[in-house]
Amino acid sequence: MNNQQTRQWTVDKLEDNLINNQAIKEAAQILKKGEVIAFPTETVYGLGANAYDESAIAKIFAAKGRPSDNPLIVHIAKREQMLPFIEGISEKAEQLINAFWPGPLTLIFKQKGEIASNVTAGLDTIAVRMPDHPVAAALLLTSDLPLAAPSANLSGRPSPTTAGHVMLDLNKRIAGVVDGGSTGVGLESTVLDVSTEEPILYRPGGVTKEQIEEVIGPIAVDPALKKAEEAPRSPGMKYTHYSPNGEVYLIRACEDIQKHVDKWQAKGKRVGILTTEENRERYTADVIVSSGSRANLSTVASHLYDSLRQFDKEKAEIIFAEVFPEEGIGMAIMNRLEKAASGRYL
Ligand code: TXA
Ligand code: MG
Repeated sequence: MNNQQTRQWTVDKLEDNLINNQAIKEAAQILKKGEVIAFPTETVYGLGANAYDESAIAKIFAAKGRPSDNPLIVHIAKREQMLPFIEGISEKAEQLINAFWPGPLTLIFKQKGEIASNVTAGLDTIAVRMPDHPVAAALLLTSDLPLAAPSANLSGRPSPTTAGHVMLDLNKRIAGVVDGGSTGVGLESTVLDVSTEEPILYRPGGVTKEQIEEVIGPIAVDPALKKAEEAPRSPGMKYTHYSPNGEVYLIRACEDIQKHVDKWQAKGKRVGILTTEENRERYTADVIVSSGSRANLSTVASHLYDSLRQFDKEKAEIIFAEVFPEEGIGMAIMNRLEKAASGRYL
């Protein structure tokens, strides 16, 4: 597993006829042989393997250092690919599929037990999504496999939005990476349970709660998303996530940030600020990173993980971060920031 050569291919996602691309064919062949390959999706890079092959799936958990009780999302390119392993599609699920697939919405269905049991960590449900990315689609179609794929980072690290991030975490731990450029959305898919009568939001992501509610009406939210003491319904949400090496603190009032910075710099710490275009000129610190503009929060989502990794590159020991309104994509941004900060507010 360790110390294997990690192959790298570069693919132009805008190229016509990607299913005939030589790199895609080679990567698909390696997937068929039971190896793991990282590939771009519209959200973050995924680390894929044949969802029917238990030993291939075991390699994903080993490469990431992922706890085995944390189930994976199965990726498909055509709806028919999920029919052999899901129990049925409710009317609401049908409406959501029509509205948002392909796209950053993962749906949880009851399952038949056909997929390798380590994909679902023994649960009787299965998470499925159809990514909206030409390279992911070409790989799924060429391999003709449903691919189980978590984000292609070491467990606990920020999810990768470039092939470079994948290599920093997983070089020599996986068979290959298909480099299709930077991902777009930048945060993971929304995870919604449609296996029960009333859909429940487990993880906010690329498709917003508001967008979902426009299609199927009001939805429930897993209480664990708001209260850290509740056990989350989605196993992965309980782990520390998305953390840079420095300690992150969230600060509600921007005007307080500078005094925290000054205090810690006086103690000899290397201090960072995670800010926005609108506010970056207000501060002085050792490392200042703007993730995007408050006027367009999707720019913040798109650069958030790269911004968190930037603090590691520049060796920030303490990072103070601005917060965002929890509306639209802001809900997913704040969910990831709270995890990066282990819930610490100042
Ligand atoms: O955007 C994405 O979703 C990316 C790209 C690669 O597709 N993938 C991703 O996978 O974020 P991962 O493994 O990092 O997150 C999957 C989440 C975890 O929180 C996991 O616990 C949850 O989905 N999940 C998977 N199957 C589940 C199930 N049957 N019931 C509840 N939660 C489930
Ligand atoms: Mg992940």
